[in-house]
Amino acid sequence: MTSGTVSLLFLFLSCNLYIPASAQQAAQFNQVLNLNGDMQINSFTFPDRSKIETFSQSQRQLIVNQNTNPISANQVTGSTGQPFVALMQQSLSINTNNANDLVGGQIELAIDPNMLQQNAVNPDNTFVGQLSPDRQSWMIMEPMRSVNITDNTVRLQKQNNIDGEYMALGRQTVETNNALTTFGSGSQQSVVIQGSGLQEAEFVDGFRMSVRATQPITMNVDVKNGIEQGMLTQLQGQMPINNFRYLVTTNLAGVQPDLNRMVTVVQLPINAVRVQQMMQQMGIQQGGSVQVAIAQRGILQNPGGATGQLQGVGGQPAPAAPQRRARDQLRRDTLEARQAGTPTQPQAANPAATQLLLQPTFTPIQANAVFDSLNMRLAIPVGQVDGEFILTMQQGGAQPQQQGQPGEQPRPEGQAPTPGEPPKPTNGTAGIEPKKAERRQDAKSTSNSVEITMKEVNRMADAQQWGGYAPVTQMLTDYVKANTQGK
Ligand SMILES: *[C@@H]1O[C@H](CO)[C@@H](O)[C@H](O)[C@H]1NC(C)=O
Ligand SMILES: *[C@@H]1O[C@H](CO)[C@@H](O)[C@H](O)[C@H]1NC(C)=O
Repeated sequence: MTSGTVSLLFLFLSCNLYIPASAQQAAQFNQVLNLNGDMQINSFTFPDRSKIETFSQSQRQLIVNQNTNPISANQVTGSTGQPFVALMQQSLSINTNNANDLVGGQIELAIDPNMLQQNAVNPDNTFVGQLSPDRQSWMIMEPMRSVNITDNTVRLQKQNNIDGEYMALGRQTVETNNALTTFGSGSQQSVVIQGSGLQEAEFVDGFRMSVRATQPITMNVDVKNGIEQGMLTQLQGQMPINNFRYLVTTNLAGVQPDLNRMVTVVQLPINAVRVQQMMQQMGIQQGGSVQVAIAQRGILQNPGGATGQLQGVGGQPAPAAPQRRARDQLRRDTLEARQAGTPTQPQAANPAATQLLLQPTFTPIQANAVFDSLNMRLAIPVGQVDGEFILTMQQGGAQPQQQGQPGEQPRPEGQAPTPGEPPKPTNGTAGIEPKKAERRQDAKSTSNSVEITMKEVNRMADAQQWGGYAPVTQMLTDYVKANTQGK
């Protein structure tokens, strides 16, 4: 190589490095694109009208592809309502070379107006779904989206990293924004689970259910006043945070057929101000903490002997036909079951229990609990969702004792549980696929409770009182006071 070529190469490289990309750029899929690192806007428009815009603190490269076979639009988490449909034929896959310090990154997707119309989706109910890290669901981030109804685009904004796969999704609810379900046992308050995909419902206080089921189900959540002392004998020092129980009733209720491989993540909202006051009353200091957990009063398995003939809802094979028809059928079945109202003598044709017989006591749920500090909720997975749920807490670092699984018979009085007794191995054919569950447990040590410090509770309580934002008016007042004193 001559010195001339070397310097030419050097010139070429330095031009490439230091000439900023023009502000607006028509880009192709599968093309390497440069992101300037000098905080000038990068804006790329793709052939399908999708657009990527971002500032960047370092020079990076970007490549965008279309995925012709994205996961289904019925796998959605993060929204308050359901169901979802796809508003694009293909998803968008974005890759950078570790661009983690982007500023104001946004992904704008063009909505197909025909798909919008065909699916009767209100443009206000359009979202950018981002594929979850385990590639199993589209995550919706409601506060980070923006919709332009003039040019039919939807954006995901405020991103520091845009790597991932994205698809425009439409929510088929009448309500826009929060679509919350009211508590109650009537058919008006029923959540209809279609028995495919992942369905979420959020209730009026933030209680949240994420259901993955293989059978159509209707589900109601009601709130019940008071907690009797007798219900708490298995809690080993844990005490209830609230003075009410969530009662979850599905139309499959006491029967747990093998054909319904249902798993649900239940999320209970934490009232930080109430917890703060309880901790203060317990004399917990700044450095102290509590263990917060969820306990369930499961159903007594099948007191009426209603399994056996169950093939599907209403004794018919589960309809594979259109979802809406299945939904209507379910509503009718549930209504009929309620009107019939004979819980002790379930008919073979309709085994749906109308009234649950519950375990006498609450027991801590033995699964991995996760604290969602942003939304102030405690989340835990359960296999059998019917029954009652409460939030509990206990002072200090102690964790709630291992107890029987919900759904198991309670221990007879006086028979002390063996400390550290390992959970019984289940050779269950019903329930979760064992491989996945094992892999999860290897990845993270499980704890069924979450430690929350007094400091954290104080911060959560402050945030709660100021609507989740910085106390702006108080800061203004304090600032003015501090700067006018003594002048
Ligand atoms: C929304 O779309 C219209 C029409 O294309 C455009 O003029 C306007 O600038 C867009 N708004 C934003 C915030 O991008
Ligand atoms: C589970 O299955 C294995 C293999 O079939 C068997 O060796 C074991 O005893 C079973 N355990 C229980 C608790 O039934």
